[in-house]
Amino acid sequence: MFLSKRYRILRRSPAIRSMVAETRLHPEQFIAPLFVVEGNDVREPIPSMPDYFRLSLDELVREAKELWSLGVKSVLLFAKVPDDLKDNTGKEALNPNGLMQRAIRTLKNNLPDLCVMTDVALDPYSSYGHDGIVENGEIVNDPTVEVLAKMSVSHAEAGADFVAPSDMMDGRIGAIRQALEEHGFHLTGIMAYSAKYASCFYGPFRDALDSAPGFGDKKTYQMDYANSREAIKEVLQDIEEGADIVMVKPAVAYLDVIHAVKQQVWVPISAYHVSGEYAMIKAAAMQGWLDESKAMLEVLTSIRRAGADLIATYFAKQAARLLQEIA
Ligand code: PBG
Repeated sequence: MFLSKRYRILRRSPAIRSMVAETRLHPEQFIAPLFVVEGNDVREPIPSMPDYFRLSLDELVREAKELWSLGVKSVLLFAKVPDDLKDNTGKEALNPNGLMQRAIRTLKNNLPDLCVMTDVALDPYSSYGHDGIVENGEIVNDPTVEVLAKMSVSHAEAGADFVAPSDMMDGRIGAIRQALEEHGFHLTGIMAYSAKYASCFYGPFRDALDSAPGFGDKKTYQMDYANSREAIKEVLQDIEEGADIVMVKPAVAYLDVIHAVKQQVWVPISAYHVSGEYAMIKAAAMQGWLDESKAMLEVLTSIRRAGADLIATYFAKQAARLLQEIA
C-alpha cells in the first residue's frame, strides 16, 4: 500500500514522541495546596484525601522545603480554624496572630524565595460554613467584600506574595486591589478564583477544613455548572478589576471552560484540580482499578493541554517526584 502520510512515524519511539510532544509538565507549574492546623509535630491524615495531611507549622516548613527541593516553588495555604474562633463576622480572619498569618510568616522566614499564596474567603472562619457574612439566610455581598479586603491586607502584611480570593462575591477583586494599594502593598499579587463553580467535587476539601456549609449550598454565589459563557464575563471583569492570575475551578470536569478562557485573556491561567478530582484517582487506584501514576500524569497533562498555565493540585509533590524519576 502506498501512503503519502503515515502518522505513526511520529509515534514510533519514546525519543520521537517526546520530541514532538506539545504539552509538558514542569514542577514549577504546580501550586501545592497545604492545610495548616495548630499544634506541633502534627501530620493529620485526611480520610477522604488519601496521602494528604493537615500540617502544624513545623511540619508545614518541612513539607515546603521538600516541595522546593522537587522544584515546586508555590504553595497555597488554607487554615483549619478551631470551632470556638468561628463566628459570622470573620473576625479571626483579621487576627494578625491568627494561624494563617503565622503560617505565612513562618514560611517566609524559613523559605524567603517560596511563592506563598493564601486563600481569602470566610468559610473556614464562618460559624455557618459559608464564604461570606450571613444575614437572614442570605450571604450578603458588600459587607463580605469589606472583610475580604481587610483579610487580604492582613495576609500581605504577614508576607503573602499572592492573595487568592475564592469566595465569588461580586466586586471583591477591585476592592482588594484598592486596599492593597492604599496600604502600600503595590507588589502583592491577586490570583482570582474567577470561574469557580458550585461543585460536589469540593467535598473532601470541606472534610479537610471542617468547613461544609451549615445550611443550604453555595449556588447563590458560585457558578452554575451548566454555564460557560458566564466564565468569560467573570474572568474579564476580574482582570479589569486588577487580577494578575485568573483561575478556573474545578479543572478536569471544566476543560472546555479552561480552553474558552485561554482564547480570551492574556494573563496566566491557573486551574484548580480539586479535592474530589484527586480523591477519585486515589480511590480507583486503591481498588486496583487504575494505575495511579499514569492517571495522575494523564490528567495533569490534559489540564495543561486545555490551556492552564498553572495547576493547583494535591498531586504536586507526587507528580514532581515522578517527573524527576522519569526525566
Ligand atoms: C473555599 C474553598 C473551597 C475550595 C477552595 N477554597 C471549597 C468551597 O468553595 O466550598 C475547594 C478546594 C478543593 O476542593 O480542593 N472558599
